[in-house]
Amino acid sequence: MLTLENNCIVIFGASGDLTQRMLIPALYKLYSHQKLSSSFAILGVSRSTYDDQSFRDKLIKDLASDDNVDHESLDKFCEHLFYQVMDPENKYEYKALKQRIQSIETALKIKSNTLFYLATPPSLYSVIPQNLAAHGLNIEDDGWKRLVIEKPFGYDLESAIALDKSLYQDFTEDQIYRIDHYLGKETVQNMLVLRFANSIFEPLWNSKYIDYIEVTGAEDLGIGSRGGYYDNAGAMRDMIQNHLLQVIAMVAMEPPAVINADSMRDEVVKVLQCLKPLNEDDLKHNLVLGQYTKSHVRDECLLSYREEKGVPEDSRTETYIALKMFIKNWRWDGVPFYVRTAKRMPTRVTEVVINFKKTPHPVFSANPPDNKLIMRIQPDEGTLLSFGLKKPGAGFETEPVAMDFHYSNLKNSELLSAYERLLLDVLKGDATLFSRSDAVSACWEFVQPILDYKKNKFDLYGYAAGTWGPIEAEALFKNGQTWRS
Ligand code: NDP
Ligand code: BG6
Repeated sequence: MLTLENNCIVIFGASGDLTQRMLIPALYKLYSHQKLSSSFAILGVSRSTYDDQSFRDKLIKDLASDDNVDHESLDKFCEHLFYQVMDPENKYEYKALKQRIQSIETALKIKSNTLFYLATPPSLYSVIPQNLAAHGLNIEDDGWKRLVIEKPFGYDLESAIALDKSLYQDFTEDQIYRIDHYLGKETVQNMLVLRFANSIFEPLWNSKYIDYIEVTGAEDLGIGSRGGYYDNAGAMRDMIQNHLLQVIAMVAMEPPAVINADSMRDEVVKVLQCLKPLNEDDLKHNLVLGQYTKSHVRDECLLSYREEKGVPEDSRTETYIALKMFIKNWRWDGVPFYVRTAKRMPTRVTEVVINFKKTPHPVFSANPPDNKLIMRIQPDEGTLLSFGLKKPGAGFETEPVAMDFHYSNLKNSELLSAYERLLLDVLKGDATLFSRSDAVSACWEFVQPILDYKKNKFDLYGYAAGTWGPIEAEALFKNGQTWRS
């Protein structure tokens, strides 16, 4: 196992939701499993007024009430947490930040390896790196300096390119880690292992044997308290441009020669560059956008999207997308990918279903059994292969059966959360599971015609919160595919 060098993690946006709900619990988990370096510091930075102690108290509140957390180790973890009040937009405040980092490094005997995590509004993604650089905090003379940038990376193709340009003035691509937490999910990484470590699937993994592929990201929750953000993003920017296109890349890419950052990301970008952008006809017939409306599910009244906090009452932001898309390359030409994502569905399910073609000649019945490989990303992570079996008894009738693997059946194998895995990778300097600039641009290039289409008049269909989406989407899936297989 690679031993981590001692390091300081500086989190901008430390008073925010992501820090509290994802980053600190992930860092604590790594700490309690002895995966962090022997000496490390976490310095939270934001404008809200805290001191070290009140920051610690705020951050560990949820962890402290968790029965599975060991209080002694949590107290020890807290000794590594520090806080600095500062406005990241004010370049004059970086002198004090630099001094604070240096004094923590000296006190804890940490070498000058610094990870800057940008968990702030995206409007600060170029400001903070510029201000860091103005104070030499990008220079790697006495230790590494890395930047983690949260999604959304840009608002459209043009702004993503502009952001890269700005970052490259002071940081190299090797120092930049664009995080997409879907790539940190065990089940997403397992798609590569399933495909490339087993010889049984790959020979079938092409347009000759695969009929169509479904990629689903359904969430039962609404947008909660994130109305302000979500209304400017919509499902297209929030889920498809990043998470689901990354999943498609894992399903569709060619095998890398080795697993390292360059080799993997070269293959990812090659396939993303083959996504066929929707043309005018596709936008009319192969895209359905929807928005949830008020409904009652059991005893609960579910608000409409337009009634959610922070959402304008005439909002035309989509909370549902279904689209049919293609990959124009040798392996995938002609195979439709049906991609669907939405908020306020009846249940939460993220999965990829590979639907194999039927046998060329129906020997046993007019309708041969479905052959499907279902990769369940979450919840109930696992893999299911369905096929037909001879129904015991006389004759040759077939009946569908399945081989079903559940991660929960694995002994002694706790899954790392996506943030645990990705934070550990950044600290190790392994960018394999982070999006490279050219891949981000390729995703925006695919998405851009849809964003442009939405600037004009477009059809937005309502669906009752807690249902499977607008009925208008049914025509898109004319083979009769459903959300759940
Ligand atoms: P929050 O709004 O909860 O927190 C944002 C943080 O940034 C706060 O600490 C705030 O602190 C600081 N901040 C806000 N405005 C400014 C400003 N104008 N100048 C300086 N600092 C500011 O957001 P989240 O934590 O939810 O998200 C942070 C980033 O992570 C966003 O880009 C989001 O898209 C991304 N993200 C979040 C996810 C989540 O689950 N929350 C998931 C995936 C990505 P203060 O006001 O004290 O300075
Ligand atoms: C985030 C989106 O990036 O991913 C959220 O902003 C979405 O809107 C979330 O709910 C989904 O992540 P997961 O891991 O819960 O599938």
